[in-house]
Amino acid sequence: MQTFQVNGDGGPVVAPVERPVPVPSAGEVLVRVKASSLNARDLRIANGTYPVPTPPGRIPLSDGAGIVEAVGDGVSRFRVGDRVMSTFHPTWIYGAFPKWGELYGVQRDGWLTEYIAVDEQSVVGVPEHLSFEEAATLPCAALTAWSAVSGVGAGDVLLVQGSGGVSVFALQFARLAGARVLATTSSAEKARRLGALGASDVVDYVSTPEWGAQVRALTGGRGADLVVEIGGAGTISQSIAAITEGGRISLVGNLASGGGMDLTRFFQRGATLRAITVGSRSDFEQMNRVISRHQLRPVVDRVFPFDETPDAFSHFEKGSRFGKVVISH
Ligand SMILES: NC(=O)c1ccc[n+]([C@@H]2O[C@H](COP(=O)([O-])OP(=O)(O)OC[C@H]3O[C@@H](n4cnc5c(N)ncnc54)[C@H](OP(=O)(O)O)[C@@H]3O)[C@@H](O)[C@H]2O)c1
Repeated sequence: MQTFQVNGDGGPVVAPVERPVPVPSAGEVLVRVKASSLNARDLRIANGTYPVPTPPGRIPLSDGAGIVEAVGDGVSRFRVGDRVMSTFHPTWIYGAFPKWGELYGVQRDGWLTEYIAVDEQSVVGVPEHLSFEEAATLPCAALTAWSAVSGVGAGDVLLVQGSGGVSVFALQFARLAGARVLATTSSAEKARRLGALGASDVVDYVSTPEWGAQVRALTGGRGADLVVEIGGAGTISQSIAAITEGGRISLVGNLASGGGMDLTRFFQRGATLRAITVGSRSDFEQMNRVISRHQLRPVVDRVFPFDETPDAFSHFEKGSRFGKVVISH
């Protein structure tokens, strides 16, 4: 079978390689992968800047969807022909975050491959209305957004940062819950598309670096109930400026460098900061029920054929995308 592996030699970030098709052990399903998707971490894993070292030769990607092609002894959750998706934390089934276990693309081979054999407990069924390409966007970005906006309801005001995978899903979920959503972005075209998805107001964070005050002004001086924090150290001071007293910040990413938090201002806001670690399988299944009920469709930026995988990584790196970058296997 064909796979792509992390190169680790300074050449293209991933390179094609042939591997034998795995045989499912007891309790495992063999999945014929039909699509996978890229997340910010995958680029960092592939170019060697992820905080946890990845050995050369590792198959990357946490997110994939496909068909169960064979089952090992004792498998009871799935049958041959079922459509399944990966889970980001293969061993976090339910409850509070246990601890970091083995992750795809880091300590174990991931989904950028034609076939993968995984524990039946580590995959979930695909919502019927979604294609494999759409389903492959859900395991990391969608579930992270779902966890980040948990508790948001009608009448709440949410702020999302940018138009990447997590932020667009957060916007979609918050709109489903009846919340008002404001967004920041870096171009007029992306602002238009965020508006089309239901953002009531969009602030350009490049031309308006003090966007926190702008968010408060746009909300009649009250501020946002919840900010989905993507930029981390580079944006959190503006997020604190943007939230209402007693508001919440869901800390998702740390992709913008900067000075970090003004703790005095944070105290003054009486705010809560919560770190998000994607979510459990049970959270994923609950999210999928809501996606099915509302027939929600992920926003796919572009689909690349499997043999053009290196181009998908280059496209992802450029930053012109809106939503998710997908590879069709
Ligand atoms: N904690 C978790 O569980 C978890 C899970 C998934 C991802 N993450 C992290 O969350 C972050 C986002 O992930 P993703 O998959 O959504 O990434 P992505 O698809 O690469 O999206 C990145 C987007 O962030 C926006 N952005 C960049 N700098 C910004 C700034 N200074 N202010 C506002 N927006 C800014 C840009 O939006 P525009 O193009 O619109 O400007 C960019 O498109 C990454 O750091 C990732 O590692 C964490």
